[in-house]
Amino acid sequence: MRYHKQIAPCVAATLSVAVVAGMAGPVPVGGQTVAASVSSPCDDTPPPAGATLTPSRDLYCIFLTARPGLEAMSGRLELRTPHSPFGVAVNPAGNHLYEGILTLEGLPDPATLGEYNHIVAWLATPLFDEIARIGPVSNGTQSIGEISLNKFMILVTAEARPDTPEWEGRLLLRATSPSARMSPPDMQEYLLGATGTGDMEMAGHAEHGGMGTGGNGTWPHPEMMPGLTMFPALMALDPPGASAFLPGAGIDPGTLPLARPREVIELDDGDEVDLEAGLVRRRIHSRDYVMYGFNGQYPGPLLYVPEAATITVNFTNSIAWPTTIHWHGLRLDNASDGVPGVTQDPVEPGDTFRYEIHFADPGLYWYHPHHREDVLKDLGLYGNMLVEPSRPDYYAPADREEFLMLDDFMMSGDEPMPFGMERATHTFMGRFGNLMLVNGEPDYELEIGAGEVVRLYLTNVSNTRTFNLSFEGLDGSAGATAASAPAAPRIKVVGTDVGAFEQEEWVESIVLSPAERYIVHVRFDEPGEFALVNRVQGIDHLAGAFFQERDMLGTVRVAASGQAPDATLASPVSAAFDTLRTNLHAAREIALYREYFDAPIDHELTFTLRTNELPFIVDRLMRFDSAYFHPVEWSGTMPMMNWNATSDEVEWIVRDPATGDENMDIAWRFEVGDVVKIRLHNERRSFHAMQHPFHIHGQRFLVLARNGVPNENLAWKDTVLLPTGTTTDILLEITNPGPWMAHCHISEHLEAGMRMLFTVDP
Ligand code: C2O
Ligand code: CU
Repeated sequence: MRYHKQIAPCVAATLSVAVVAGMAGPVPVGGQTVAASVSSPCDDTPPPAGATLTPSRDLYCIFLTARPGLEAMSGRLELRTPHSPFGVAVNPAGNHLYEGILTLEGLPDPATLGEYNHIVAWLATPLFDEIARIGPVSNGTQSIGEISLNKFMILVTAEARPDTPEWEGRLLLRATSPSARMSPPDMQEYLLGATGTGDMEMAGHAEHGGMGTGGNGTWPHPEMMPGLTMFPALMALDPPGASAFLPGAGIDPGTLPLARPREVIELDDGDEVDLEAGLVRRRIHSRDYVMYGFNGQYPGPLLYVPEAATITVNFTNSIAWPTTIHWHGLRLDNASDGVPGVTQDPVEPGDTFRYEIHFADPGLYWYHPHHREDVLKDLGLYGNMLVEPSRPDYYAPADREEFLMLDDFMMSGDEPMPFGMERATHTFMGRFGNLMLVNGEPDYELEIGAGEVVRLYLTNVSNTRTFNLSFEGLDGSAGATAASAPAAPRIKVVGTDVGAFEQEEWVESIVLSPAERYIVHVRFDEPGEFALVNRVQGIDHLAGAFFQERDMLGTVRVAASGQAPDATLASPVSAAFDTLRTNLHAAREIALYREYFDAPIDHELTFTLRTNELPFIVDRLMRFDSAYFHPVEWSGTMPMMNWNATSDEVEWIVRDPATGDENMDIAWRFEVGDVVKIRLHNERRSFHAMQHPFHIHGQRFLVLARNGVPNENLAWKDTVLLPTGTTTDILLEITNPGPWMAHCHISEHLEAGMRMLFTVDP
């Protein structure tokens, strides 16, 4: 049995800090942080009117066990989602954040239990290497503040002193976090029986034999993350049941023009622009590859347009696949939405198509193919569109603007990992890349001046990766942070998919799931070098352990400004940066919809998964893994099982529980002017539950609540992250007639079925 230790649980090291820092003092019963109107996953209160689906109790509620003889006592801890402008609340290291809501019943007078006067709660890591004192608790419901531990225990003890720094007294109640159910030893023991080499060639798997060598290439093995636990039986899996595809077979990259960095195309109402999808030569780390690009560029040209403009795009398809372009997030004319089989026929190789594109709302958008997006977009067919607000003060001022398209690309050694020709591979978790790209570059660099306020337009164009971005000051030697490193910049979120937030907010990191956009302002006050990093908590599934993953995406070099620091920081732009503004324009527009916020739920959708004839070892391992699912699968830590699964073996499902209809059988009908409240539930009890970034075409929506907790700061969106086991309530504004698609924006989930239609009548 291979069991690599280097990835060992870093539970204590990274997490205890957060406990101490984040732990608020206890709040008395009925304290202000405990919103009575919120229905808790712990309670048996029925779901709101119109709804049947509720958040997973199993992931978001912990029942405490009383010690023998103390059974009259009981307790439960709700893991409540705290406010975040993003789809999920995490700290810069990627630890999920919860507000702990502790309800205790039947606690006696501590004096009846011995020499005690107080009842105190504690949080501890599972091995007790760290114990943090929460403080005195009592019968009733109380907030115990922020929890940021990956795995933890909650303990309730009777103590002689209310302020005892260490747990000394009698243990009354205890429980472990849902994540602590991931435990390796039993599973590994069980699996001994499944890791031999004899019986793995099961029916349904053998039929793939040899397919990997068909098509135009052969399948290399996916790369393993260093140190990740991996079973020999998994390493012996056959390639997926699809031919290996890479573009430009037989073409010498040297004969293709070298791709150029993106150009900005400024357009006015009525303008026309040509876009051509074609082969390009891309140089990455001084090697040349054949990939795709729009107009020979990477990313595609940035279309810079004024609000309310309409332009024409003459699209030419010069690649070997049929394709279309979808203008993600725009409320445009249905005929130009670019969905093959719904709004148009695919554009065959050599053919053209005219798109009329209307820009109804200020914000940051992007375009990409809507046919085999898992291949065509990943190979470089994506570009941004910036709709400049008609109000010059729509965002607070900034000194400059930068556009960052965030991506990851999957390499196997020096070569790109091929794609499935007939069908998508990597259909479990999506194709996680191991080469991080910003604007198509592995070594993104930005040079700015100290004190400048920079508006960053961030778009996640990856197939499946959810990023957790932050900046780290570097000390200049070896790229490591050190005491001498400059202080990280402050980050302020101002907008997202379809416009501005009601209020600007400070954040410590930026979370974007695929297809989401965030607009942030940053100011680097000190000169020096900074790393743009993605920091997340990966899971070593077979070891049952979390590990810190840190990907470097680029470098920001901050030059000392010519002026005295005080002068720069006193500029009007800087002064605006220092204040948190309410965006009155955005807030007023959203206020018109408040009357609908408490309306009954009109529709529900469940997100789940069905599998078909998986290889035996994959089926067995994944069943064992289902004791716990993390709210977000941040990292591709099951590379072999994931690679092997195509859309033949895996069907991702969006289901309307009211009718039982699934995927393209769902046919909702609305009328222009409808305002529809929809509850989205990501089913925890599916074969492999994970997050889904859900995108709705042609309309815009507000995210009203997560797990029943109202969202305090709204903005119009077109894509929302649905963490595992949660319910998310959205308010969909129906303004745009036609047949529209809604789907998961993990490219491989879209290919594996997770899409539906709704029709809007005029
Ligand atoms: Cu960006 Cu239907 O997708
Ligand atoms: Cu999905």
